Amino acid sequence: MKLLYGGPIMLIMLGMMISGCCQNSNKESAALVSAPETPGKFKMEPLDYPFASLEPHIDARTMQIHYEKHHAGYTKNLNNAIKGTALESKSIEEILGEISKQSAAVRNNGGGYYNHNLFWKNLSPNGSEKPGANLEISKAIDAAFGNFYKFKKEFTAAAATRFGSGWAWLILDEKGKLAISSTPNQDNPLMDLAEKKGIPLLAIDVWEHAYYLQYQNRRPDYISAFFNVINWEEVNRRYLTAKN
Ligand SMILES: [Fe+2]
Repeated sequence: MKLLYGGPIMLIMLGMMISGCCQNSNKESAALVSAPETPGKFKMEPLDYPFASLEPHIDARTMQIHYEKHHAGYTKNLNNAIKGTALESKSIEEILGEISKQSAAVRNNGGGYYNHNLFWKNLSPNGSEKPGANLEISKAIDAAFGNFYKFKKEFTAAAATRFGSGWAWLILDEKGKLAISSTPNQDNPLMDLAEKKGIPLLAIDVWEHAYYLQYQNRRPDYISAFFNVINWEEVNRRYLTAKN
């Protein structure tokens, strides 16, 4: 009797556990924030995590305004700037690679579109300060900079000393080596006019719109917080793709 009673209950509980498990895994794999509507060729990618999920390191309000207003603004302005031109048939990487031939509107908004797509992917609620020792990017950082903390110091300095608005980068340079650089405004290392050219692997946005609500003028605190939410799996994936 006990067995007969226990059997169906166990089955129901097992079913609930399986159902709960699959729902959770679907939630984790599904995009959690839909991209704003941006009519035209270039579309924003959905955000893989909720706005509040990077707290306490980056606050929800900053994330929402940054994604839905600033990034959407660059995307809309880029689409307007290229509408009806030959650039509509090119990829964003192709456009950036010959940006010296383009208008300031395409340069600023094309950079803003690309840079933010990368920035969101570089962040994760499950992020960490350092890459796992098993990742290729971890070994490559040690080989290029001596150790992780030397890399962190140099990257932090590049981000902290960028005058005004801009970005700091970890790139795979044209010689196939890891390097750190920074760019003004919405420029990036894919641009033919960049001082240091290469393929971006990791980026930090140091425009005030990225941190001012939470950190005000304390950019170093924001840079330090950024090192708690880096998606090193994604940086590693980009590194492996860029290298091959
Ligand atoms: Fe930004």
